[in-house]
Amino acid sequence: MILSPSMLSSDFANMESELKALEAAGLEWVHLDVMDGRFVPNITFGPPIIKAMRKKSNLFFDCHLMIEDPGRYIEDFAEAGADLICVHAEACTHLERVCAQIAETGAKPAVALNPHTPLSVIKYLIPQLYMVLIMSVNPGFGGQKFIPFCMDKVRELKAMINEAGADTLIQIDGGVTAENAGELTAAGVDVLVSGSAFFGYPPYEERHKVFQEVCK
Ligand code: DX5
Ligand code: ZN
Repeated sequence: MILSPSMLSSDFANMESELKALEAAGLEWVHLDVMDGRFVPNITFGPPIIKAMRKKSNLFFDCHLMIEDPGRYIEDFAEAGADLICVHAEACTHLERVCAQIAETGAKPAVALNPHTPLSVIKYLIPQLYMVLIMSVNPGFGGQKFIPFCMDKVRELKAMINEAGADTLIQIDGGVTAENAGELTAAGVDVLVSGSAFFGYPPYEERHKVFQEVCK
């Protein structure tokens, strides 16, 4: 299990120390939520901030783009230091093209699906995807409640990936807690994103251990 803490719930005025604290706590990934105020009703940060963070951290930058027509900005995010670029299927008219564009930059390509979006939209793309992100809340804000049907969606996606003979990772994002993390990983989740249920419970090393314990 990989835990990818969402910086959305971190202290934005002290991102450098937050990133250092994550590394010191043994985390390897960090989840960066990019929001444009159109695809989702909230605005966060973009490539310049990620570039600044890159200078202070060696963590794996897991960049979740909640923006319309993300194909316009793939190179910018890659140059800023994104290790993985995850775009929403709902935001791309030509999703295969955008995935190929991500792979061309050297970043890992990933696709996110809103809770109601059927898995069939990514069926043919699975072999070329490093990861599929299942949103378990409607994207835009931290601290929302996990939508229960997403548990079944994880199981179905796991079966699809196995059937394709692929090694695509499954990520879940939204309402993940120490209480549901174990069931999620048992269902097939490889990467857990956690914002409020992680940053709200320092010290981070202890919290990381709690998540690891419940997922054994
Ligand atoms: C929501 C974001 C999430 C968010 C998760 O749109 O994509 O990454 O930070 O926050 P929690 O874990 O608090 O639900
Ligand atoms: Zn996210």
